[in-house]
Amino acid sequence: MQYKIPRGTYDILPQDSRQWHKVISVFRETAQSFGYEEIVTPVFEQADLFERSSGESSDIVRKEMYRFEDRKGRIFALRPEGTAPVVRSFVENHLDATARINRLYYIGPMFRYDRPQAGRYRQFYQYGVECIGSHHPYYDAEIIALQNTFLQRLGLKGITLEINSVGCATCTKDYEQALIRFYEPQKAELCPDCLERLNNKPRRLLDCKVPHCKTISAKAPVMLDFLDADCRSHFEQVQSYLKLMNISYTINPHIVRGLDYYTHTAFEFLNNSLGAQNAVSGGGRYNGLLKQIGGMDLPAVGIAGGFERLMLSLKQEQIMPADEFRPDVYLILMGKEAIRMGIPLMNRLRQTGLAVIFDPDKASLKAQLKAADGCKARFAVIIGADEVTSGKLSVKNLDSKEQISCSFDELFRILGSPSLP
Ligand code: HAM
Repeated sequence: MQYKIPRGTYDILPQDSRQWHKVISVFRETAQSFGYEEIVTPVFEQADLFERSSGESSDIVRKEMYRFEDRKGRIFALRPEGTAPVVRSFVENHLDATARINRLYYIGPMFRYDRPQAGRYRQFYQYGVECIGSHHPYYDAEIIALQNTFLQRLGLKGITLEINSVGCATCTKDYEQALIRFYEPQKAELCPDCLERLNNKPRRLLDCKVPHCKTISAKAPVMLDFLDADCRSHFEQVQSYLKLMNISYTINPHIVRGLDYYTHTAFEFLNNSLGAQNAVSGGGRYNGLLKQIGGMDLPAVGIAGGFERLMLSLKQEQIMPADEFRPDVYLILMGKEAIRMGIPLMNRLRQTGLAVIFDPDKASLKAQLKAADGCKARFAVIIGADEVTSGKLSVKNLDSKEQISCSFDELFRILGSPSLP
């Protein structure tokens, strides 16, 4: 029997893992340069945390959560997203006591039981940032600027930013009434999911991907026309900060976001050449979430993005963020005496941080030099019978093909070792 990887998951193979880690490190550096610190939470939480925060009527809760019962009958879920766990940890660990503004970032696998397709997986990796503690519209812009800087540092050019305001609880009421008045007469034409949405969360109708529903929704009233004075002013101030930061955007009044916790600003970074799964990242302000899950009444704003869609975007734009791995030394030891001399040398080289490859089961010098070229080593260091007699080493620069004989100490200088052990 041959085992197969579960549907909707994938392996990161060695040839791709350097690019993967490079992208992660660019994200970490960017987040840290904005003053954000890492928070790591478990991959599973009480299912109720997500049911309450994402919303019972959201697709994530209704269809996509990996829910399970443990041996003691407790109900958990593999996390479908990172915001609720971060907020749970923030509340549980009283992080509000450590600083007025908490800037947090996270990286890790998330799980959603969705129909797999290009850019959509059942286990996917998210990077996210959350800024907890202030209403100020500057922070909405800071979160957007952080994501924008990250994309710029990766060299991506084909990504656009769309923003919207989903208002607050007060202005949402009038808006939802207007939506019901708009959709009711066209009820017969809506998909079954949208009929349910009309009863639970009319705003979600705007997010439906069914073509006919999309055509109907194109004419639906938009939240921007229902914003109260505070929400309107907040949205205008966010835009003025984006302008000061020279960040281009368009206003898309149809952004609703798939999770229930958003208030005020909502935003998405899109790569339209990715096809249906074009959202590279998305987020917004969620002022009510901390209180909703039993914490203090603190406002917050954040964003999260999928690494897979970033990697696809990098591939499309032919950007290779990481250099290929090149070992510094391929060590060739011919015979027992050479091994006696060479293994301690190998240890010293590795202790200085140099990457050394040694293959004792390759027989001939020719085969080993071929292997050294094959793994793109910078130098081959050879100890054979002559070297054992002379106490010197042969060093071959595998780029220039030049070969010299040198002492052990000279070798460290040739390799540019940071320190002589
Ligand atoms: P989200 O829009 O559900 O928001 O997900 C954020 C990003 O995760 C998406 O834009 C997409 O790049 C990626 N993503 C989502 N589902 C999948 C999937 N099945 N396969 C691959 N990538 C996927 C959130 O998760 C919010 N927690 C964002 C947030 C943070 N809001 C405030 N703070």
